[in-house]
Amino acid sequence: MSEAAGRPLRVAMVGHAFMGRAHSQGWRGAPRIFDLPREPVMQVLVGRSPERSAEAARHLGWAEAETDWRRVVERDDVDLVDICTPGDTHAEIATAALAAGKHVLVEKPMANTLAEAELMAGAAADAAARGVLSMVGFTYRRVPAVALARELVAEGRIGEVRQVRCQYLQDWLADESTPLSWRTDKAKAGSGALGDIGAHIVDLAHFITGQRVAGVSGRLDTLVTERPVAESFAGLSGKGGSERGPVTVDDVAMFTGELAGGAPAVFEATRFAWGRKNALRIEVNGSAGSLAFDFEDMNVLNYYDAREPARTGGFRRIVVTEPDHPYVGSWWPPGHGLGYEHGFVHQVVDLVRAVAAGEQPTPSFDDGLAVQRVLDAVERSHRNRSTYTEVAEHRRPADASAAPAERTHDVPAPAGPSRGE
Ligand SMILES: NC(=O)c1ccc[n+]([C@@H]2O[C@H](COP(=O)([O-])OP(=O)(O)OC[C@H]3O[C@@H](n4cnc5c(N)ncnc54)[C@H](O)[C@@H]3O)[C@@H](O)[C@H]2O)c1
Repeated sequence: MSEAAGRPLRVAMVGHAFMGRAHSQGWRGAPRIFDLPREPVMQVLVGRSPERSAEAARHLGWAEAETDWRRVVERDDVDLVDICTPGDTHAEIATAALAAGKHVLVEKPMANTLAEAELMAGAAADAAARGVLSMVGFTYRRVPAVALARELVAEGRIGEVRQVRCQYLQDWLADESTPLSWRTDKAKAGSGALGDIGAHIVDLAHFITGQRVAGVSGRLDTLVTERPVAESFAGLSGKGGSERGPVTVDDVAMFTGELAGGAPAVFEATRFAWGRKNALRIEVNGSAGSLAFDFEDMNVLNYYDAREPARTGGFRRIVVTEPDHPYVGSWWPPGHGLGYEHGFVHQVVDLVRAVAAGEQPTPSFDDGLAVQRVLDAVERSHRNRSTYTEVAEHRRPADASAAPAERTHDVPAPAGPSRGE
């Protein structure tokens, strides 16, 4: 069932700090740069304090402010709820919004536990049957170079996927005086580096290769077990006082595993890598070439074609700013690069187009559940001395008995990111 094109899409956003600001850029910028079938209306912003919410609404461009998300999800003048709060609130807000008939965009990781993620995926399936759609905010899928990497894999440009290595390296917790926050509290965040940034690289491995992680051996470490209690916050960091408290999440998550088609994969997520600010890196080695991406050079995709003569072969540095690259056609002339916030614009574009067409946007809550299954398997493996732990739901029946040499590469047709016409 498609919704009438042209009708405004009235949005309520919950949370107005880091992601709230980034999503506001997306809602504001998307209709100014791209042609959208429905005009997003920034209807109401929800926070916890009346004063700060009102100030954020004014600053970020929302028509009104509210302090109770329960009231907002029931409002007749809201079509879509955008959830930009910590993970402990995602399941409750998302399921309430879907039950009230609102489309939902929820930040990653979709939930704090596998049980919550299963509940949410079930609620999303029920809602989809009523034409109510849902999506998870794995924004890095919308970086043009990442979307291009997926296309090249699907086109067979690196042949069969043989090996995948993924890292997400940051350093904002390496300083021991960085205070406690919701991100260091298991009750609020579910996990540490694993769910915060490890979730992104699991999703990107799924997205780029078209195959899910089917088993892992994991190790989680907490390097600094106690930190100052925060007196104030700015961004990810803040100022601590003299009182101290425990860190209840992992600081570093490392796991090896394999994709459903048998390719071995290695993952590392840490917020302790001094000097690495947002080094989200993924490299895929295939039977006929390689692809490599690093978010710290986000307009570039490196491509190695092993079929080229060795004499002149080498990694090709593709500057992903050409009009026929994913999303880029609506932006600037070639070479005039994009930045972090543009992923949030593209996220809105893809979501609004899917809602207007009545089609399931991606990543769906099923995709979010798939990531959560992998995170859960890493935690179980860690608790069991890093024992290899299957993600049984991701194992393709044909792969279970196949020897590695017989495993085939099977990438579903790409969902086709917006080309930015
Ligand atoms: N897609 C990405 O790349 C990306 C990047 C950073 C964070 N995230 C995710 O976004 C979510 C939010 O993270 P953040 O960095 O914006 O956190 P943040 O601490 O900067 O902001 C959280 C916001 O939620 C609000 N909030 C908390 N509980 C609330 C409630 N019950 N009702 C209304 N508002 C409430 C806070 O007041 C604050 O405005 C998390 O799930 C996080 O993992 C995603």
